[in-house]
Amino acid sequence: MKLKQAVVAVLLASAFSAGAQVGSSEQAAAQKIAAATCASCHGADGNSQQPTVPNLAGLQERYLLKQMKDYVAGKRKNDTATPCGPDLKPANIAGLAAWFGNQKPASGKPGDPALIAEGKKLYELGNSARGIEDCTQCHEAGAAGSGLNPKLSGQHAAYIFKQMRAFATHARSNDKNDKMHDVAERMSEQDIRAVAAYLAGL
Ligand code: HEC
Ligand code: HEC
Repeated sequence: MKLKQAVVAVLLASAFSAGAQVGSSEQAAAQKIAAATCASCHGADGNSQQPTVPNLAGLQERYLLKQMKDYVAGKRKNDTATPCGPDLKPANIAGLAAWFGNQKPASGKPGDPALIAEGKKLYELGNSARGIEDCTQCHEAGAAGSGLNPKLSGQHAAYIFKQMRAFATHARSNDKNDKMHDVAERMSEQDIRAVAAYLAGL
């Protein structure tokens, strides 16, 4: 077990340092793959037009790298047949994470002001009576994200809703130490709708 953990640690460390050193030629190659294989769903610049397909533009490179490694390892499942699943080629992942992370995110789409106000409050303060942690401590104020905690600002509300329910039911279980599961399982559908409306509007 110890050996396995050590191997994983070394693999992760090398993947992250490779991620940090992704050069322009690797990113140019990634741009070609993105145009040919990812753009039809995630948009040519990583801003998707489909509500259940996530925007990738401007997301943390380390987060994107982890998600793609999780897809390849089967730790995160994609329930639709997409090229971002076990078919991702490990050699392309670091370049794709860097390229998508460097794209400019589109601005959010504001929705119902009352719902947004409810969501903002829950995002910033949580709900201690119901044991819901505030989101800022990990996703930052304004949902800019950092490191392995993804940026959520401007993300599609329908995608966020789906992920929160997936964390709550363990359909998505690649969150380390159940961090997102513990938050999501305490939230009602109304809570999630409100937070998603707030985030999508940022
Ligand atoms: C047929 C549509 C489709 C194509 C083409 C596609 N994806 Fe996806 N991708 C999706 C969907 C849908 C999800 C969200 C799945 C879920 O609900 O968990 C997703 C999720 C992701 C995520 C996780 C994002 C996050 O915020 O957690 C990454 C990273 C990703 N895709 C990368 C890629 C890359 C790189 C390519 C091209 C090699 C690609 N995808 C091609 C549909 C697609
Ligand atoms: C203790 C830290 C922590 C807290 C608190 C937290 N999150 Fe997260 N969240 C994470 C991490 C880490 C991930 C990435 C998990 C992974 O590796 O797949 C994540 C992922 C997500 C995702 C998936 C994003 C995507 O692109 O697929 C959503 C949506 C999300 N969080 C929303 C929230 C909301 C809303 C709250 C507050 C109600 C919240 N989180 C509170 C740590 C946290």
